[in-house]
Amino acid sequence: MCDEDGIISMYRLTCVHCGRSYSPDEIIYTCRSCGHLLFVEYDLGSLHIRREDWDRRPLSVWRYRELLPVTIPPVTLQEGGTPLYRLERIGEEIGIPNLYAKHEGMNPTGSFKDRGMTVGVSMALQLGKSTVACASTGNTSASLAAYAAKAGIPAVVLLPAGKVALGKVAQALMHGANVISVRGNFDTALEMVQDLCISHGLYLLNSINPFRLEGQKTIGFEAIDQLGGVPDRIVLPVGNAGNISAVHKGLRELLALEFIDRLPMMTGIQAEGSSPVVRAIRDGLPEVIPEQRPETIATAIRIGAPVNAEKALTAIRQTGGTAEQVTDDEILAMQRALAQREGIGVEPASAASVAGVKKLAEAGVIDPGERVVCVVTGHLLKDPETVIRQCKPPTEINADLHSLLSALQCS
Ligand SMILES: Cc1ncc(COP(=O)(O)O)c(C=O)c1O
Ligand SMILES: [Zn+2]
Repeated sequence: MCDEDGIISMYRLTCVHCGRSYSPDEIIYTCRSCGHLLFVEYDLGSLHIRREDWDRRPLSVWRYRELLPVTIPPVTLQEGGTPLYRLERIGEEIGIPNLYAKHEGMNPTGSFKDRGMTVGVSMALQLGKSTVACASTGNTSASLAAYAAKAGIPAVVLLPAGKVALGKVAQALMHGANVISVRGNFDTALEMVQDLCISHGLYLLNSINPFRLEGQKTIGFEAIDQLGGVPDRIVLPVGNAGNISAVHKGLRELLALEFIDRLPMMTGIQAEGSSPVVRAIRDGLPEVIPEQRPETIATAIRIGAPVNAEKALTAIRQTGGTAEQVTDDEILAMQRALAQREGIGVEPASAASVAGVKKLAEAGVIDPGERVVCVVTGHLLKDPETVIRQCKPPTEINADLHSLLSALQCS
C-alpha cells in the first residue's frame, strides 16, 4: 500500500464516510475532508498471516499480531486470553442453551479496555508521543493509567464528577494518572479532552482513536477460537459504541481472509435512560440523535452521544443484528443472577448484554437454536458500591460457637 508520499506500509487510515486515506504516521482522529471517523485499513493481500501461526500462540491480544498496527515491542500487561464461560443455568432458564459469556473483567485492570490500551499506548510510543489522555466513564481511565505507568509516560484523564464507580477512580489514582473531575457529563468531558489533545499535542486514547479499536477487535477473534467456530450472535453493551464496532471490523477482516465464512449478528444493548443507538435502529434513522441527559445505574454506558455510532449502526445493520434497551432493574437482576447462579462477577454495564439476550429471547427475536456469545465487559469489583447496596450486610456476632450456630440457625 502506498500513501501520498509514496511510502509503502501494511496499512493506512481510511475515512468510513468519504474513503479518503491518510498515512499511518499522521496523528489524526477524524477525516480532514468530512469530519467522519477513521479506521485502520490493512493491505490484507500483502500480510503473511497463517492460521497455524495463530493456533500455536497462547490466547492473547498479541496472538493476532499480524493484524495489529504495532511494529515496536508492545507495552503489554498480558491482556486478553479471557475465559469464555457457558451460562448453563441462565441459558436454560431463558431458553438459549448455547449461551456463553466472554469475561472481559478478567483482563489486567478488570475490563476489555486493556485490549485497546496495549495497542493504543504502544502506538503512542511508536508515533513518538510522550503524554496520553482520555475522557472516561471510568474503565478507560483505569486502563490508560496502568498502561501509561507501564510505558513510563504521564497520563491525563477527565472523569464526569460524581459519576464514576469507586474502583475505577481508585485505579486511575493509584496508577498515577493526573485525574481531573469535570463538572459535567462524559460527553462534555470527551469534547474537552479532544480540544486539549488537538491544541496541546497530547495523544488521545478514547475509542475515537482507530488504533485502540484494533486491540479490542481481538475479543471476537478469541471467542471464535475458543468456540471452535463462528457464533450466530455476539451481544455487547453499548456506550460510546467502540467495542461493537471493533469486534465487527475484526470479523470482517477474518471473513476477507477466508478464516471464517460468515459474520455473527452484531447485537448492541443499552440502558433505557441512555439508548440513542437503540432508537436509531428501531426508527431506521441514518444517524443517532444524541440524548442530552443520559442516566443509568450502569455508569460505564451512561453516554448520550456515542462517538462511534456511525460504525456501530453499520455493524448492526450489515449483519442483520439488532439493538435493545434494558431497564436498570433488569441490569441489576442479571448482575445478581450471573454472580449467584453462574459464579461470574461483573459490573452493571456488563450484565446489560445478558439482560438484553433475556429480553430478546422472550420477545422471540433470538431463536432458541442460536449460539450466542455475550461480552461481559468489566469486573464486579469495579463498582463495589452498587454491589453492596443490593446485598444483605454480613451478620455480625460475638466470637463464640453458640452465637455462630444461632446466626446460622442451627442447634
Ligand atoms: C464495563 C463497560 N462496558 C461497556 C462499555 C461500553 O463500551 P463502548 O463505549 O465501546 O460501547 C464500557 C465503556 O466504558 C465499559 O466500561
Ligand atoms: Zn472523510
